[in-house]
Amino acid sequence: MSDPMGNIMEVEHVDAAYGPYRALFDVSFTIPAGGVVALIGSNGAGKSTVARTITGLVQATAGTIRFDGVDVTQKPAWQIARLGVASVVEGRGVFSQLTVEENLTLTFRQRGTRKELSRNLEKAYESFPALGERRTQMAGTLSGGQQRLLSLAKVLVIPPKLLVADELSLGLAPVVIDMVYQGLEKIRAAGTALLIVEQQVDRVLKISDKAVVLDRGSVTFEGPTNEAGNVIESLLARRERAGSTAAKLVDEAVNDGVDPEHVVSKLVDEATKGLDA
Ligand SMILES: Nc1ncnc2c1ncn2[C@@H]1O[C@H](COP(=O)(O)OP(=O)(O)O)[C@@H](O)[C@H]1O
Ligand SMILES: [Mg+2]
Repeated sequence: MSDPMGNIMEVEHVDAAYGPYRALFDVSFTIPAGGVVALIGSNGAGKSTVARTITGLVQATAGTIRFDGVDVTQKPAWQIARLGVASVVEGRGVFSQLTVEENLTLTFRQRGTRKELSRNLEKAYESFPALGERRTQMAGTLSGGQQRLLSLAKVLVIPPKLLVADELSLGLAPVVIDMVYQGLEKIRAAGTALLIVEQQVDRVLKISDKAVVLDRGSVTFEGPTNEAGNVIESLLARRERAGSTAAKLVDEAVNDGVDPEHVVSKLVDEATKGLDA
């Protein structure tokens, strides 16, 4: 049962840290039941930390995380998974010493009868023909993209209430990214809510209803995807302004006999925070 607002997940005022290093500051956002949310931000913004915190892999040091009406803030990852949160992260959840079919069988057998097993295998191969062609291949010898399809196939057949997908398109060829996104569309069509973490904004904004922008561990935007475009544009404009400011300051530094390298590196740092577009 979702809350009265129809949210499957609510993240409220969450902080998280790695030892003494604080990675998240007062992060709040919601994921509508059955909706698709894009979590975007530059490298190091804290996207993966959000993904790990809401799936229980990193413990929140403050705030509340509610899933499907249940407070899961202090729950371990396996309990959150059992409530219906799945995550697909590069290099996780695929057994490299088993074949594609053995990998799928292992997952599906935990969930149903023998009859359902063959039906579920059929369903997986139907959705991802590339896996059907490789059913006897060792999963460890699949390409990165094929391994991600294998993780998605497991999720597709037994739909969770929420899927957290962290940078699934990272390092993949465009044609494989298309396959991954088609897989995500199918999972969404089965009623699963998606939190899609991406640095590359173009593709994810096309399939998401809502965007959350992270910058240095804080949420700087939460709203409809069509409004996120403006936020990203204003970030770009900020970068442009910073660029001309930098040029001016370098000129001044040279005139003053100061090492311009120092000025530049500080400014570039500042200007590129919060965007990769
Ligand atoms: N395991 C870790 N130990 C210490 N610091 C980490 C760890 N993982 C990430 N960080 C730091 O936390 C910040 C956020 O990282 P991350 O969530 O991976 O960002 P993103 O996924 O947006 O690139 C970064 O400054 C990163 O260096
Ligand atoms: Mg990351």
